[in-house]
Amino acid sequence: MTVKDFIDTNDFSKEELMKIVNLSLALKKCIKAGYYPQLLKNKTLGMIFQQTSTRTRVSFETAMEQLGGHAQYLAPGQIQLGGHETIEDTSRVLSRLVDILMARVDRHKSVADLAANATIPVINGMSDYNHPTQEMGDIITMIEHLPEGKQLEDCKVVFVGDATQVCASLGFITTKMGMRFVQFGPKGYQLSEDHLKIFGENCNVSGGSFLITDDAEEALKDADFVYTDVWYGLYDAELSEEERLAIFYPKYQVTMEMMKKAKPGAKFMHCLPATRNEEVTDEVIDSEFSVVFDEAENRLTAMRGLLVYFLGLNKEDVDKAAEAKFELEKTLFAAFEAEKELVEVY
Ligand code: CP
Repeated sequence: MTVKDFIDTNDFSKEELMKIVNLSLALKKCIKAGYYPQLLKNKTLGMIFQQTSTRTRVSFETAMEQLGGHAQYLAPGQIQLGGHETIEDTSRVLSRLVDILMARVDRHKSVADLAANATIPVINGMSDYNHPTQEMGDIITMIEHLPEGKQLEDCKVVFVGDATQVCASLGFITTKMGMRFVQFGPKGYQLSEDHLKIFGENCNVSGGSFLITDDAEEALKDADFVYTDVWYGLYDAELSEEERLAIFYPKYQVTMEMMKKAKPGAKFMHCLPATRNEEVTDEVIDSEFSVVFDEAENRLTAMRGLLVYFLGLNKEDVDKAAEAKFELEKTLFAAFEAEKELVEVY
């Protein structure tokens, strides 16, 4: 199956997602070596935001710039969408003006409708249902921080706290990859039967497993990665500080004591932004086992791979471009050496 849009990782097979992960890692390697393959030259990304963003906005824009393209920030309240123009018309118009779209939306239906009416690829930059670009960056981060001798499929990932869209997304990608996923959260703030149905379907194919529990010992035992997200909840149901502390504190705060229940060497993850000393203590987020800033950087790693993949290039093309660059470098270096010899002779 070829899918034009990146709205939900459950639309893709593990193999397709791993292809994007490998492409992202290949591009990261090129860029870390100082080579910026101009694979998106003359391509334009339209970025629709119905909400604020740091990581998603900046990583999409930087990815386009690094690969030779351009991004347009269509800020909240600054385009006709949601005001004087329907989502269908916005989608049709932008399909004529840019090459690819991303959208961070209040309601999942908005990004799905945008994709259904667009003739260009649409990437979901987060909705109230899921956060698939975060999922891709998170899997890349786990690959880079695998415990010694382990593969992704051998790892247990524990999400602590509220069933946010990031929690759901972590469940989607880990069960897709064949990992063990646990949500450790209080009743009333746990993932729904609909989520569990999808996890079950993923696990039937991948061999992974999942568990939803409010038992700390059971949840954290043997965990390789401990992940959390904010407690203030989804957009129109945001909890006050008093309400959220009454629900989640102290049992669901990630502390050093909680990390000791996980496997020795377990990594701490957070999609960010974090409410420091609420869902996680400073001591944990700033510790040597915290990988939260690698995780933030890997949003950019994932965006590059997604943009190149959805604009029609694959890992083989990237490898070819990288090889061509190294061939060119060899030729230039040889010319430079020859020139030096000439200067020495005369
Ligand atoms: N994690 C994440 O999506 O961050 P932003 O809201 O800053 O984009």
